[in-house]
Amino acid sequence: MSIQLHIHSSREAAIRIVAQEIASLVRNKPEAVLGLATGSTPIPLYQELVRLHREEGLSFRHVTTFNLDEYQGLDRSHPESYWNFMHRHFFDHIDIPAANIHLPGSRVAEADMLSHCMAYEEAIRAAGGIDYQILGIGRTGHIGFNEPGSPADSVTRCIHLDAITREDAAPSFGGLDQVPTSAITMGCGTILSARTITLMAFGEGKAEIVRKALREPITDQVSASFLQNHPAASFQLDLGAASAL
Ligand code: F6R
Repeated sequence: MSIQLHIHSSREAAIRIVAQEIASLVRNKPEAVLGLATGSTPIPLYQELVRLHREEGLSFRHVTTFNLDEYQGLDRSHPESYWNFMHRHFFDHIDIPAANIHLPGSRVAEADMLSHCMAYEEAIRAAGGIDYQILGIGRTGHIGFNEPGSPADSVTRCIHLDAITREDAAPSFGGLDQVPTSAITMGCGTILSARTITLMAFGEGKAEIVRKALREPITDQVSASFLQNHPAASFQLDLGAASAL
């Protein structure tokens, strides 16, 4: 197993390291391609990158981004859409051109789904592939929204969200019945094609699934376990998330 494990004394310490990695990538390669995640885990990372932009002149002018996923059935302006999340937490505060930002659509008609997802894959390829992919991990072990059963070579597609994933999202949507039932997600294969992958997990609530992903045999029941085989993947954990290892 080549995966690198980094255990930090605090979430803030982990965030600083990841932000510095991204900053040095972008300084060395201004046209870097970043794969981005949403959820509570990367929010402080975006805050730190915004700080580096404002205080240390880190420019995203030539960076291209691809987000992992997007709920289906919400307007982009919906507060819980990932388009909205990313603009609120990151894009609105840096100098990235709108044309360089990519997220899957949030209201893709069934008839257009396949071509939409294939176009997303093609856009990643055309950009030269993802240099640095940020991931969180869901309680189901998902990366992106690759719920249990997602094959290692899966590509961008529409997926039915797991009951646990919808339950976890319910508070921010104001109730389970408000949570979309499906999403478009990059596949495990799409994610594994990134040159460098950093999975961040913080808090004891992630400890058990982190243990499964790292310490148990690779299985499509825990899509994060596929990272064990990636040549340049790391887990950046705080003490809580590492507490079951
Ligand atoms: C988000 C995503 C998900 C989250 C995961 C953890 O774009 O693809 O895999 O990273 O559900 O979410 P949080 O960080 O809210 O615990």
